[in-house]
Amino acid sequence: MEALRIIGDEHRNLWRIAVTLDQLRGEIEDGGHADRRLFDAIFDYLDNFVDRLHHPKEDDFLFRLLRARSAEAAAVLDRLQDDHRAGPDNLKALRAALAAAANSPAAGQEFAAALKRYTDGLKAHIRSEEKDVMPLARTVLTDADWAEIDAAFADNSDPLFGASAQAEFRELFHRIASLAPESIGLGGQTAGELTPGAGPAHADVVLSIRGLESSYGRIKALRGIDLEIRKGELVALVGANGAGKTTLLRAISGVQPVGAGEIRFAGEDITKLRADLRMRKGICQSPEGRQVFGPLSIEDNLRLGAYTQPKAQVEGDLERIWAMFPILKEKRALPAGTLSGGQQQMLAIGRALMGRPKLLLLDEPSMGLAPLLVEEVFNVVKSLKAQGMTIFLVEQNAFAALAIADRGYVLETGQTTITGSGRELLENEDVKAAYLGM
Ligand SMILES: Nc1ncnc2c1ncn2[C@@H]1O[C@H](COP(=O)(O)OP(=O)(O)OP(=O)(O)O)[C@@H](O)[C@H]1O
Ligand SMILES: [Mg+2]
Repeated sequence: MEALRIIGDEHRNLWRIAVTLDQLRGEIEDGGHADRRLFDAIFDYLDNFVDRLHHPKEDDFLFRLLRARSAEAAAVLDRLQDDHRAGPDNLKALRAALAAAANSPAAGQEFAAALKRYTDGLKAHIRSEEKDVMPLARTVLTDADWAEIDAAFADNSDPLFGASAQAEFRELFHRIASLAPESIGLGGQTAGELTPGAGPAHADVVLSIRGLESSYGRIKALRGIDLEIRKGELVALVGANGAGKTTLLRAISGVQPVGAGEIRFAGEDITKLRADLRMRKGICQSPEGRQVFGPLSIEDNLRLGAYTQPKAQVEGDLERIWAMFPILKEKRALPAGTLSGGQQQMLAIGRALMGRPKLLLLDEPSMGLAPLLVEEVFNVVKSLKAQGMTIFLVEQNAFAALAIADRGYVLETGQTTITGSGRELLENEDVKAAYLGM
């Protein structure tokens, strides 16, 4: 039933896009203009991905076998496949309405109305697949059916469904994320409603730390840390020099011995797990001071970041990094040591991303960079967050970190002292006095 997991993941991405479209529509209804480039990128994604990849897979395998096994399947599948067939024309009509929207406010409102019909339809379609089709499939399909369906979904050399097609739509998705206004993003939190009753992402605690202690000889660097990071969150940890920020990150990634307390990742106790096994689980760190391998080429540095990953996905992931950091692609064959500080920071982040992080740990990515580059690094972090990545960001640059974080923790001499939303901490008098220089 691997196919159902893949379809479920794809639904979550589509749901985020539908929510994004709803928010963009709200702005147009309030008199804002339609951002042509962003809408084009979203429509390209829906065209390429939904109509050419997602739907055919369902039609050709899952739906075909369901029809063969269940007489009652036809009613719901007829409706869903009508939707599939109508998809490309609906998008064409939306693109035409978008082009017209540039001409008058009235046309803008017509576009907004068309957009609403489209996203309502998309959401109803996803819901029906989740609520009607998937449960039925679980009941009526045989082991042989699943073998056939799963094989089709897992075929990485298939030109339609395979690794290259997936890399292509990931890139399209990234383009949307990078164009989306900050207020919108594509974060995990907005995808909540898909499973009714389960509640939004609150339930998905990715990292939870209780009473964590760690020492260097007799110096206790961490004295009882409690913190929690949920799926899709960007959490900032701020604190002065020597507060223990790096020690905490190193303890999470498993290269720093822990004296007491517990670290759980995705519900599992990993306090005693080896560092490389933590990386395999998706804990990937961009270390303090970047630590790229200077004599190695930029490309080889990135490939090293993927050493725990299946070979088949590395090329596609490299393309994604090149798309994110074009300068690295230009210089791919040069030794990493020839890059500027800002570029090395991009490389260090790219290397961590090659490990397909479920939790990305960033240790002072802005350290030692010129203000303009600091901004660029924070833009990268924001765009990763917008794609739904879970990020723990350690920074001395408290103002910038809290400004983009969902939540933050203040670390003082090995203890977390204040916690709250990024905004709350920015407005907290103690934080202001100690870290923001106000
Ligand atoms: N290798 C080490 N040996 C002994 N003490 C250490 C070592 N590394 C760090 N410490 C001490 O542990 C404490 C926490 O250091 P840590 O590097 O975690 O702080 P930090 O918050 O990351 O600081 P910075 O902002 O300078 O990066 C400090 O008192 C530091 O002197
Ligand atoms: Mg540090």
